[in-house]
Amino acid sequence: MSDIIHLLPDSVANQIAAGEVIQRPASAVKELLENAVDAGSTSIQVIIKDSGKTLIHVIDNGCGMSETDARMCFERHATSKINKAEDLFSIRTMGFRGEAMPSIAAIAQVELKSRRHDDETGTRVVIEGAEVKSQEAVSTAAGTSIAVKNLFFNIPARRNFLKSNPVEARHVIEEFERVALAQPQIAMSLQQNGMEVFQHPVSNFRQRIVNLYGANYNERLVPVQEETSLLNIAGFVGKPQFARKTRGEQYLFVNRRFIKDGYLHHAITGAFEELLPRDSFASYWLHLDIDPAKIDVNIHPTKTEVKFEDERSVYAIVRASVKRALGQYSVSPAIDFEQERAFDIPHAMRKESPRQPVVMVDTEYNPFREKSSPVENRQLNNLYSGINADVRALVESQQTMPEKLSLNSKWNEEFLLESDEFIFQLDNRYIITRLKTGLLIIDQQAAHERILYERYLKLMEAGNGPSQQSLFPQVLELAAGDYEVLKEINPDIRSLGFDLQEFGQNAFVIHGTPADIPAGDEKRMIEKLIEQFKNNQSQLNVDRREVLTRSMARSSSLKNGKYLTPKEMKQLLDELFACEKPFLSIDGKSTVVRMSLEEIKEMFRK
Ligand SMILES: Nc1ncnc2c1ncn2[C@@H]1O[C@H](COP(=O)(O)OP(=O)(O)OP(=O)(O)O)[C@@H](O)[C@H]1O
Ligand SMILES: [Mg+2]
Repeated sequence: MSDIIHLLPDSVANQIAAGEVIQRPASAVKELLENAVDAGSTSIQVIIKDSGKTLIHVIDNGCGMSETDARMCFERHATSKINKAEDLFSIRTMGFRGEAMPSIAAIAQVELKSRRHDDETGTRVVIEGAEVKSQEAVSTAAGTSIAVKNLFFNIPARRNFLKSNPVEARHVIEEFERVALAQPQIAMSLQQNGMEVFQHPVSNFRQRIVNLYGANYNERLVPVQEETSLLNIAGFVGKPQFARKTRGEQYLFVNRRFIKDGYLHHAITGAFEELLPRDSFASYWLHLDIDPAKIDVNIHPTKTEVKFEDERSVYAIVRASVKRALGQYSVSPAIDFEQERAFDIPHAMRKESPRQPVVMVDTEYNPFREKSSPVENRQLNNLYSGINADVRALVESQQTMPEKLSLNSKWNEEFLLESDEFIFQLDNRYIITRLKTGLLIIDQQAAHERILYERYLKLMEAGNGPSQQSLFPQVLELAAGDYEVLKEINPDIRSLGFDLQEFGQNAFVIHGTPADIPAGDEKRMIEKLIEQFKNNQSQLNVDRREVLTRSMARSSSLKNGKYLTPKEMKQLLDELFACEKPFLSIDGKSTVVRMSLEEIKEMFRK
């Protein structure tokens, strides 16, 4: 029998490759725009008809191509942007694969006209379904003009698969906007069916955003700017009060490439914390500039994803920068207790010279004074280290230091509460109690989550959480993927008190659950754990036990809206202030807000 394997003709190979790169008119628009950007253009015009189904015409004033290059550009793996494998790690151009032009030419009728600035005449190439129809010299403007007609003319199935004109037009506009936001220094216009949709002059980033969204956006933007040794971040976030009800205005660019990154999205939106109104989404337009050697852009066919070498640091920098920006523009809550360390920008990375540490000297300190021995002072310092200066000030403003305050009892009741009676609940959500010099407002759910989180962490470490055995073991059937996840986390959740046993294909039997989980809730709880574990693992890349502990704390905490008796409230506060980090919610937000007498007085002066 003869051999049966043979190489596919280029035209077929290109058509197959096109399936990955060009899925719809918008993908062709993206590729052509990126080529125009890479060509160093200062002006790019896009003209489309029927949402790009009939015509996509991109005209630039970039470097143009020679006669040979104008033909070569339709060859597979033909590129002027890289030469060798190492070049992949110094990429600053949008393209590098040499795939886009042959892919487009394989599935459309293309007319290319191009002239380099120093050449007298240009060249015109007509290519149809990967077949060159003609090439000739023409007189044309310096730069390149590429007209892509009748996309998928030779693949009816694909053409029929396209969505309605408005849908496809929306995709085209989206791609156009992404490039427009990535490259404000390039004048760009978009015309659809003879109508002008956008006309953007050369501008800076702020002007470009305002140009795209309207003049009222000017006052909505909070600048974000941070320079570190790992990366620079610049751009804007939307003021929370203008947050939109739809997730639309979220743009992240890495070295001017629009990318989708759930992990960094989490960093950015996380920095907004509770500033956003319910059911609304943070807006952001951020540019990250990073050494290309520290990222890999070659991981997705449409090049909309990048892999960072040091993902965690990038996360930390992005989150801290946004948080700082929001804080600086005083749209962040005034009181910001200790921030999670993971979110601080490592000092070594900050470009600005480090500030000299301020040594706080207690000028009143008298070693012979009875109640405050140096040892006690040191203890207090330890106790407050890691607590924001604001809280320290609060403590120090107390006229008399509580005598019973020790490392074990921390913010114990004598110090915190004037009396048991003065504690009440507001809106079944906040606990309010009196300080000697003001009020404390505690978010009950956040507080309880913190308590449980620390408790579960300890249990995990000890590996012996109390378990309540079920009288009637339940069978939990799972999807294959979830089953695998549960298998993976089973040893960890066992230490929290879960007693689960594999039971045939894709099922577990629940023999026991942690003591504080209400009966009847077991299945839901485990499903939630799996779900949150999946989400957080992919997004956060954080420690597995940490993810599980957080999820558990979140799922089993008492919720806002629950009425609490004064006794329960007091118990909650006692437990909270016995925590390692009582002021920090498990999302990095605050559990407690203080209002000092001074602040209250100030309110009445206005
Ligand atoms: N508008 C243009 N102006 C000048 N040169 C262009 C233009 N468009 C394409 N080229 C040339 O054609 C080559 C092939 O383009 P193509 O888009 O296929 O590949 P690429 O941009 O190198 O990589 P990728 O497939 O990742 O986009 C480019 O490397 C570039 O040299
Ligand atoms: Mg390209």
